[in-house]
Amino acid sequence: MFHELMNRIHDRSARVGVIGLGYVGLPLAERAGRVGFSVLGFDVSPERVMHINQGESYIGDVASDALTKLRAAGRLEATTEMARLRECDILVICVPTPLNATREPDMRYVEAASNEIAANIRPGQLVILESTTYPGTTRELIMPRIERDGLRVGDQIFLAFSPERIDPGQTSSKGYSVENTPKVVGGVTMHCTELASAFYGYITSRVVPVSSPDVAELTKLFENIFRAVNIALVNELALLCDRMGINVWEVIEAAATKPYGFMKFTPGPGLGGHCIPIDPFYLTWKARAFDLTTRFIELAGEINAQMPRHVHDLVIRALNRARKPLNGSTIVLLGIAYKPDVDDYRESPAFKVYDLLTADGATVIPCDPHIDEFEMHDGRRMRTVPLTDDLLQSCDCAVIITNHRAFDYERIVTLAPVVVDTRHATRAIQGPLRAKITVL
Ligand SMILES: NC(=O)c1ccc[n+]([C@@H]2O[C@H](COP(=O)([O-])OP(=O)(O)OC[C@H]3O[C@@H](n4cnc5c(N)ncnc54)[C@H](O)[C@@H]3O)[C@@H](O)[C@H]2O)c1
Repeated sequence: MFHELMNRIHDRSARVGVIGLGYVGLPLAERAGRVGFSVLGFDVSPERVMHINQGESYIGDVASDALTKLRAAGRLEATTEMARLRECDILVICVPTPLNATREPDMRYVEAASNEIAANIRPGQLVILESTTYPGTTRELIMPRIERDGLRVGDQIFLAFSPERIDPGQTSSKGYSVENTPKVVGGVTMHCTELASAFYGYITSRVVPVSSPDVAELTKLFENIFRAVNIALVNELALLCDRMGINVWEVIEAAATKPYGFMKFTPGPGLGGHCIPIDPFYLTWKARAFDLTTRFIELAGEINAQMPRHVHDLVIRALNRARKPLNGSTIVLLGIAYKPDVDDYRESPAFKVYDLLTADGATVIPCDPHIDEFEMHDGRRMRTVPLTDDLLQSCDCAVIITNHRAFDYERIVTLAPVVVDTRHATRAIQGPLRAKITVL
């Protein structure tokens, strides 16, 4: 089984099934198709399946053109029919791993995908989990499900974990995509690692094999915890600098001139996205079973969660200087996405800032050139409005939440009476206009 599958990987005749065609799954499916594999994408959403089969991409980093080419070459198809999992030699799980209402891992999607695989498993298949999760998931949750009817992992079937590291929306600006981001791979056995490494050898420029799925799972969490903790550190510094009357951005820029031993992180209105606010708590949860409290993670969560409140305070202070109360003021919220130049608003700090300002009687108007309509954290559906000169002139304060490149900051500061900048997006604006700006 091992040699047969290895040969099929090397001659690209292995069929690749990607389960979950979102921010992670669709770029992988496209890349696998581009390097010559025949790809069958699985999703529970009939709309997504329909779009892919029509060659229409709904993910910013994947061009519709690329999907159309793969469709024409017969190397890409999407389906909701899970029984077709049997047709694939390699199955890569890319489904969501959110937190539930009590902020514990919500494994429903991984469980559902694993159950579908288990129901269709056959000898000679390699299963790879890419969804971010706690150490132990691959061995404890997936392995017992797929080891059925006498099939053993490492013998007739193969199982590995390989975390995804893509940074949606940043492919064009930072130059990193699926094809040049090193991929960590940890198989349950050596054969599992070798097969998964051989597959990813065609997907990306560098494969980093590790000794187990647990190591690969924890590697991914550690990378994101590293970010969450460092963001918390710099956010705390920003809170202190605010009290001390020191410009935190100047401190950061100066520190960043050190050529070694320092890595630049920047403060902001709070964490957002599907990864950094969520993933660390997968480890916190797992650590409890080992009688350990992950204090750095908890503390980072606490500090980062304060930031929307700090933005609220900055708005009150900025309005106060203009002799206006927050109650009754009109605030333009610039950016709903959680990071620049994307339309992803999952866990965006904009929601919290919106709630805090409206709770105090402000009218808050959301503007985001990348988003027309969005759903708040509590399910409310809202629309953004275009950022017109009239809107900027008639509002009481503009608050920059997301530093989209599409915003014209000179125009914003010129027209709005007061600006709160939580991202240092207005750094280039000098002279008398600066007096209007309150920075985080
Ligand atoms: N988005 C990122 O930047 C990023 C980066 C690295 C890792 N990750 C991790 O990758 C995983 C996927 O994240 P994403 O951002 O691609 O999610 P997503 O929500 O964009 O996509 C998930 C897709 O899975 C589909 N799906 C859900 N249940 C399914 C099932 N049982 N069978 C088939 N399809 C199903 C959904 O319809 C959706 O299309 C998560 O674990 C996430 O933490 C995400």
